Amino acid sequence: MFGSTKKVRYAVVGSGQISQQAFMPGIARAENSELVALVTGDPEKADKLAKQYNIPAYGYDDFAQLCASDDIDAFYIATPNAKHRLYAVPALEAGKHVLLEKAMEASVEDCQAIIDAQRRGGGKLMIAYRLHCEPGTVELIERCRQGDFGRLMIFNSTFGQNFSEENHRGHSGYWSGPVPDMGTYPLNAVRNLFGDEPIEVRAVGSKTPGRNFNFFDTVSVTLRFPDEKLAHFTVSYASAPVETFTLVGDKGTVHAGPCFMFGPSIGITYRTIIDGKEETRAQKPVEQFGGETDYFSDCILNDIDPEPNGEEGLMDVRVLAAVERALETGEAQKLEPRRRERRAEPDQVRSLKVVKEPSEDQMIGIVPQSA
Ligand SMILES: NC(=O)c1ccc[n+]([C@@H]2O[C@H](COP(=O)([O-])OP(=O)(O)OC[C@H]3O[C@@H](n4cnc5c(N)ncnc54)[C@H](OP(=O)(O)O)[C@@H]3O)[C@@H](O)[C@H]2O)c1
Repeated sequence: MFGSTKKVRYAVVGSGQISQQAFMPGIARAENSELVALVTGDPEKADKLAKQYNIPAYGYDDFAQLCASDDIDAFYIATPNAKHRLYAVPALEAGKHVLLEKAMEASVEDCQAIIDAQRRGGGKLMIAYRLHCEPGTVELIERCRQGDFGRLMIFNSTFGQNFSEENHRGHSGYWSGPVPDMGTYPLNAVRNLFGDEPIEVRAVGSKTPGRNFNFFDTVSVTLRFPDEKLAHFTVSYASAPVETFTLVGDKGTVHAGPCFMFGPSIGITYRTIIDGKEETRAQKPVEQFGGETDYFSDCILNDIDPEPNGEEGLMDVRVLAAVERALETGEAQKLEPRRRERRAEPDQVRSLKVVKEPSEDQMIGIVPQSA
């Protein structure tokens, strides 16, 4: 296993926007990792990306054969959310390691099937929460744990972009829409900042006049946490770009932004006000995809269960599923109280140099996300 160089050998499954824009260029920064194959259903991508990265391309019909191959250690799966189980389960059952894009799947049952497959096969599973390896995000989580802002009370976030209805995410229903796609970021942030799991969910949605999404394109979610903590976030596929959150304790306040995105010019930044004293901490942009891959490969090479494991993915999906029910019924949804023992820790932070990203028109076979 791992060849003589001790690099984890990855195959990409689904050569869409995020694979081409971020994972395939970014893995070059992770010295313990290499890209060895790609899986795509698009002959043009198979031809051009295989040449660009000097790797073989396979079709989805070859996937069972790749799961049995001694030349691949791990898969990076970046298919649409509701197609994650389809590839993650056979890969994990075959004992391969899987770096699986968020949201983990489109139901709690599907997430559990992926976790069960990982236990049967014995490989590692990490949900691709790149911010769990980003220095500013993890520093803020650590400061919350240390009590810098006192007893945490309130989280408020807005995350929006102007998305194209033509992109498959613009017309494939709730599980490709703004709540699983974008809402996962504030949801995952507040679960890790509060160090707690929500117990009640309310949601309202709107359909922006003049837009043609087949779901609520803008959704507001309110979460009740134990100990009277409250969180609220609004996500939108139809707004100007925005990414921000405010976190309030009984001693201090945090204003964060940019706080969720990635790229060569995006450095995670937050401003604190504690006892009236202001401070801004702005991180330099880091290679977030290379960083999370480097961390995952370290986990594989050193036999460590990654922190953002299957349980972390499921904890978000159970809330996303409750938001869907709240939108359908108009009723508040109770969640069974759950505890999670693990949270993002400083030793998983990676600060790799950013890589250049291809622009939307340089990518192959992509329906642009931006309207
Ligand atoms: N971590 C992040 O920052 C981040 C950012 C964006 C997206 N994501 C996640 O990454 C995943 C992929 O998102 P994306 O933006 O890359 O989407 P995308 O551009 O639509 O790419 C998805 C790819 O999956 C493949 N695919 C396989 N079965 C498919 C099917 N039935 N319908 C459509 N495509 C299918 C296609 O690749 P081929 O043509 O090669 O077969 C397609 O291009 C999602 O889970 C998303 O939430 C994560």
